[in-house]
Amino acid sequence: MEKIKVAVVGLGYVGLPLARLFATRYPVVGFDVKKSRIAELMSGHDATLEVSDDVLGSVLLPHVPGETEKGLYCTDNLNDIRSCNYYIVTVPTPVDKHHNPDLTPLYRASETVGKVIGKGDIVIYESTVYPGVTEEECVPVIEKTSGLVFNQDFFAGYSPERINPGDKEHTVEKIKKITSGSTPEIGEKVDALYRSVITAGTFRASGIRVAEAAKVIENSQRDINIAFVNELSKIFNVLGIDTFEVLEAAATKWNFLPFKPGLVGGHCIGVDPYYLAQIAQDRGYHPEVILAGRRINDTMGEYIANRVVKCMIKKDIPVRNAKVLVMGFTFKENCPDVRNTKVYNVVTALEDYGIQVTIYDPWAKPEDVRKEYGLELTHECPEETFDSIILAVAHQEFAKFDIRSLAKEKHVIYDVKGCLNPAWVDARL
Ligand SMILES: NC(=O)c1ccc[n+]([C@@H]2O[C@H](COP(=O)([O-])OP(=O)(O)OC[C@H]3O[C@@H](n4cnc5c(N)ncnc54)[C@H](O)[C@@H]3O)[C@@H](O)[C@H]2O)c1
Repeated sequence: MEKIKVAVVGLGYVGLPLARLFATRYPVVGFDVKKSRIAELMSGHDATLEVSDDVLGSVLLPHVPGETEKGLYCTDNLNDIRSCNYYIVTVPTPVDKHHNPDLTPLYRASETVGKVIGKGDIVIYESTVYPGVTEEECVPVIEKTSGLVFNQDFFAGYSPERINPGDKEHTVEKIKKITSGSTPEIGEKVDALYRSVITAGTFRASGIRVAEAAKVIENSQRDINIAFVNELSKIFNVLGIDTFEVLEAAATKWNFLPFKPGLVGGHCIGVDPYYLAQIAQDRGYHPEVILAGRRINDTMGEYIANRVVKCMIKKDIPVRNAKVLVMGFTFKENCPDVRNTKVYNVVTALEDYGIQVTIYDPWAKPEDVRKEYGLELTHECPEETFDSIILAVAHQEFAKFDIRSLAKEKHVIYDVKGCLNPAWVDARL
């Protein structure tokens, strides 16, 4: 049987759960450039909360695993991944301030792999990209750094990650995995590797570019669908109809898609469509639907703030210096991830009106929010009362109490998620 020793490069929301899963069966070395992340993981804790301390502890090894020793060792030392023969890259794929794809982490990770990859080894990319990135952008970096020849000395694969942070039901092994390889034989090897740990099974795509495209359209489709219901929400607001009531009625038809309006933040859905748009534009096609969806979704934060202010004015609540509580700051419920959260846009738009905003989020880390956004946030439920309350994120903790207890007698309650008792709220998105 072939010897398998896996290196996972990039131990974030995607890399760590994957490394943990492979470590239940193979020797695995997790590599990350962030020293503090390595120290935290080797102490048995994952701050992203994707892998529990118990589960992480059950696979952690205090040393680089031997050839047949299953388990996970995490490191920032390049030499520790030299003995691996499968390199899986799970580094971020952000956009820059002009929304152009920033492939820097992928280039750096490819250099890292290029320094250690040996003859016959396979590198598999999992980061979300546009079609062509693996073979046209990453592989040349490995060839240059290693001096090896692609599809002769080393091989490549692409297997997109589909996890959903905070979702304890659809965990990595329970999601069908798309696999692909740079030759048919490598496609089969990559598929066999994932098949051996993914209980939901695999789908072998015909090639790397097909697998890359499949992932980027999954997230773009979601973005466009949410943009459509966000636009509906704006229309129904003008017409004086409750969007959630309309959606509930329409969803009784068998083929109506049950999307809800909302803030589209995070690291994936609000970012990946720009990757697809960029490659299309680069090849002379100017996407309309994809970018229209992005424009609508990116303006929802300000829209929500404006609606809250209108509700306050209608109720004769003075806006300037009003105290508004924003409940939830993470980009989605029940996870600590604040990357690209659009609740930030709600907060800054409210502050533009001279409103004093208090942010309460039991999941987000105050230090992350301070560092990334320059905002203060409280973990504890405030004891004072507010002129307005905006439920921005449906964390499980918020369902446990009557949020009217946090409101002054004359108040506005605005429900972004459509999950509060409709009798309590002045308006919903
Ligand atoms: N988070 C998700 O829900 C999700 C889901 C599916 C796919 N993806 C995709 O997976 C990829 C990774 O996303 P993530 O959420 O895990 O990111 P992340 O920011 O949580 O983690 C990335 C890790 O990579 C490390 N890193 C950065 N550059 C590195 C380098 N050159 N060498 C080694 N380590 C490096 C960082 O320190 C960090 O720990 C992205 O392309 C993303 O679009 C993410």
